Amino acid sequence: MTSPIITKAEVNSKFQGRSWLAEKDFTPGEINYLIDFGLHLKALKQQNIPHKYLEGKNIALLFAKTSTRTRAAFTTAAIDLGAHPEYLGANDIQLGIKESVEDTAKVLGSMFDGIERRGFSQKEVEDLAKFSGVPVWNGLTDDWHPTQMIADFMTVKENFGHLKGLTLVYVGDGRNNMANSLIVTGSMLGVNVHIVAPDSLHPSQEVMDIANKFAEKSGAKPMATSNIEEGVKGANIIYSDVWVSMGESNWEERVELLTPYRITMDMLKMTGNLDNGQFIFMHCLPAFHDTETEYGMEIKEKYGLTEMEVTDEVFRSKYARQFEEAENRMHSIKAIMAATLGNLFIPNVSEDFE
Ligand code: CP
Ligand code: NVA
Repeated sequence: MTSPIITKAEVNSKFQGRSWLAEKDFTPGEINYLIDFGLHLKALKQQNIPHKYLEGKNIALLFAKTSTRTRAAFTTAAIDLGAHPEYLGANDIQLGIKESVEDTAKVLGSMFDGIERRGFSQKEVEDLAKFSGVPVWNGLTDDWHPTQMIADFMTVKENFGHLKGLTLVYVGDGRNNMANSLIVTGSMLGVNVHIVAPDSLHPSQEVMDIANKFAEKSGAKPMATSNIEEGVKGANIIYSDVWVSMGESNWEERVELLTPYRITMDMLKMTGNLDNGQFIFMHCLPAFHDTETEYGMEIKEKYGLTEMEVTDEVFRSKYARQFEEAENRMHSIKAIMAATLGNLFIPNVSEDFE
């Protein structure tokens, strides 16, 4: 039995000073803690109760790819926490063009207390953390999207009251950052994540191995299948993402491979959960559900499609939670930044949660 007396150093060592680079670096209990902390911070915000845990801190926001939610969430979260956020876009700084990651990290780490990075390679965020000496928060790489996970499972918990035993089905490009993060995080939390995608877009063996290892402990049943009916049966959540991620341009191949996997009302009906209050639709956004974008228009002209990964009907249906999910990006990013930088009194994290 562990001692009930916890020193402040022990307590803080749970999160303080750590970087948030990939979900697998944390324990399931720690991830669940961040989800609950995000929900708590959301309640504080709604009641206008100040939570300035990062007063006087400076936060650098480094983006190599575009962003609406992640940038807005880090900015507003930092301000609510009392910190000063500074946006440094791809064309504003020398990083990668005139200056190495190591040198940039050393400079930024001497001026900023924490760094957010949205980029391409996972190694780059790891190096930023290694050389800056301050917490680095991964705002998306080609491999993982870990801040999105806390918002997503907050949204799931808000809707179902618990996580363990639920089935979340991701339909689309099963090899991208979102698919990787969902199957690993779901497997940590006891959520059955099914990846429904054509065979050539199934997750890598490496990602499946990580998910399976966590699933052995949590009891989750992760799987990848190309069979839509088999994959979505019993789903509590159907989850969608763009067919072509930032940094890719293979539209023709993806349109051909993924058009049969578009999320429609008929697909939703296959879950068997539409009439019992046990079903929601989620999307990390941005979404191509109509032709109100430049990409949407281009795809219509080239391939005759007016909707891509999800129909407008599903996107606007009563099951859709993508905008609540988007708002939760702010509350969850607050939780991540405050826990790792705020020197908070955080009691022991339990690995026994629902
Ligand atoms: N979901 C998400 O990361 O959105 P942005 O690309 O707009 O940040
Ligand atoms: N897979 C998408 C996620 C966007 C939030 C991308 O990387 O573009």
